[in-house]
Amino acid sequence: MKDKLKELFPEIGMIQDDDIRDKTLATLEDAVTLGGWTLDDLDVVPFTLLINDTKCSWLKHTRAVTRMAIACGKVMDEEYSDNYKINFDYLVSGALLHDVGKLLEYERTDSGFIKSRCGKLLRHPFSGAGLCTKHGLPDDVVHIVAVHAKEGQGGYRSPEAVAVHHADFINFEPLRDL
Ligand SMILES: [Fe+2]
Repeated sequence: MKDKLKELFPEIGMIQDDDIRDKTLATLEDAVTLGGWTLDDLDVVPFTLLINDTKCSWLKHTRAVTRMAIACGKVMDEEYSDNYKINFDYLVSGALLHDVGKLLEYERTDSGFIKSRCGKLLRHPFSGAGLCTKHGLPDDVVHIVAVHAKEGQGGYRSPEAVAVHHADFINFEPLRDL
């Protein structure tokens, strides 16, 4: 499954550190398996249940957020390197995994996709952070996943987490507000 995941998410190849790249892949693979999905499902599962009949899949959203966060990170790095450095391994891994918990949060029924029992108990930032910790990803990556949504409001976000958080909402609000 890992080779196919690398094809689906070419951004994985941008992660320089072998350990972080392998753990990112392992986390994705685990979520697909635990959620009972196939790899083809990733481009079918909606990225949100908050927009009725959205055409945007979990795969498309995840890649768009990742590419946008990378673009933001590049500008941040160019302009503010006197103040902080962007770690692109953390940023790419965190962006690719920011919604990995949704693969546990949603389930398919005959009448469509709904929140699973797990999703009712643990929104995706919680289940996603748990999966990342399970696979030994660095705290900086777990942090990006944990604080990317409303749960992170009002608390500290690292520069990489700020980029992923805003990229996520840029890839949500215009589709919600059509
Ligand atoms: Fe997202």
